[in-house]
Amino acid sequence: MRFSTSALLALPLLAAAAESPFEQYKAKFQNFLGSFGATAPSADKVPPVDAAKAKVGSKKIETLTLQNWKETLYRPVHPDATQPEEWWVLVTGGNKTCFGHCLKVETAFNETAAKFAVLPKSPHVASLNCDDQPVLCNAWSASTGALWIFDVLPEPAPTDIYWRRLNLTTTTSKDIVDLYTKGDKKEDFKLVEGYFHPINGQLAQYGLAVPLGYFFWALNAIPSWGMMLIVSFLSRSMMNRRMDNTRGAPGAAPGAAPAAAPRGAPPGDARS
Ligand SMILES: *[C@@H]1O[C@H](CO)[C@@H](O)[C@H](O)[C@H]1NC(C)=O
Ligand SMILES: *[C@@H]1O[C@H](CO)[C@@H](O)[C@H](O)[C@H]1NC(C)=O
Ligand SMILES: *[C@@H]1O[C@H](CO)[C@@H](O)[C@H](O)[C@H]1NC(C)=O
Repeated sequence: MRFSTSALLALPLLAAAAESPFEQYKAKFQNFLGSFGATAPSADKVPPVDAAKAKVGSKKIETLTLQNWKETLYRPVHPDATQPEEWWVLVTGGNKTCFGHCLKVETAFNETAAKFAVLPKSPHVASLNCDDQPVLCNAWSASTGALWIFDVLPEPAPTDIYWRRLNLTTTTSKDIVDLYTKGDKKEDFKLVEGYFHPINGQLAQYGLAVPLGYFFWALNAIPSWGMMLIVSFLSRSMMNRRMDNTRGAPGAAPGAAPAAAPRGAPPGDARS
C-alpha cells in the first residue's frame, strides 16, 4: 500500500524537521491552534468606525490572500532600490480565528491607515484575515491580533519581518501610530526568523510553506473522529507494509526471519 496524498507526505517531513521549527510554530501560533469550532463570547460592544470614509486621502488597505500576497508586497519595490519598502500588515480574524475579538484592533488599524495618509513616507498598509485565509496564516504561522512589518527589498535581498501581538482590548490607532513614530522595531517588535519566515525561511525557499499551511489547516479543520480514522488507517497500512517486507525478503537476514513473525501471525504465515 502506498501513501499518496500530500498531507501524508508532510508527516515524515515534520518529524524529520525535529522540534525547533514546530516549537517556533507553536510559539507564534497559540491563538490559532484549536480555535476551530470553539465558542467564545462576542465582543460587539465596539462600534465599527468607517475610517476609510472619514478621511478622503486614506491609504488603501490591501487585502492579502494566498495568491496575491507576495506580488502585493513587492509591487511598490523598485528593482534597484536600496531602501526597503515598509508594509504594516494587520493579521486579523472573525468569529472563527479571533473569536470575534479583533474588531477593536481592526478599527484601530483602519484609523491608522487614515492617519498614515497624511504622514510623509508612511508605510503601505495591508490586512490578512485568517478566517478567509487560513492556509496563508498557517503557512506564516501567523496568529490573529498581531501586527507584522515587512521591510521589503528587491529579491534576492532578504526581507526583514517584525511582528508583535496587539492588546485586543486596549489598542487604539494612537498606539499604532506611536509605534510607527517611535520607530524602534528592534525594541517593540520581534524579528521573524527561522523556518517559518514567509520569504527567506527554509520552508518558503523549498516551496513547503504552503503545503504545510494546508496540512496544519486540515489538521485544525478535521474533527477528532476523522483524525482517529486517519490514524487507524495509517497504522494499519504501516503494519501491512511491514508484514509485506518481512515476507517479501527471504534471503535478507536468514537468522532474523523467524523471529520477526509477530505473535498472532496472520494466516498467510501459518505455513512456515
Ligand atoms: C459572529 O458571532 C456573532 C455572535 O455569535 C454573530 O452575531 C455574528 O453574526 C457572527 N459573525 C459572522 C461574520 O459570522
Ligand atoms: C476596516 O477596513 C476594511 C477595508 O478597508 C473593511 O473591510 C473592514 O470592515 C474595516 N473594519 C472595521 C472594523 O472598520
Ligand atoms: C491588555 O491591556 C490591559 C490593560 O492594560 C491588561 O489588563 C491586559 O492584561 C492586556 N492584555 C494582554 C493580553 O496583554
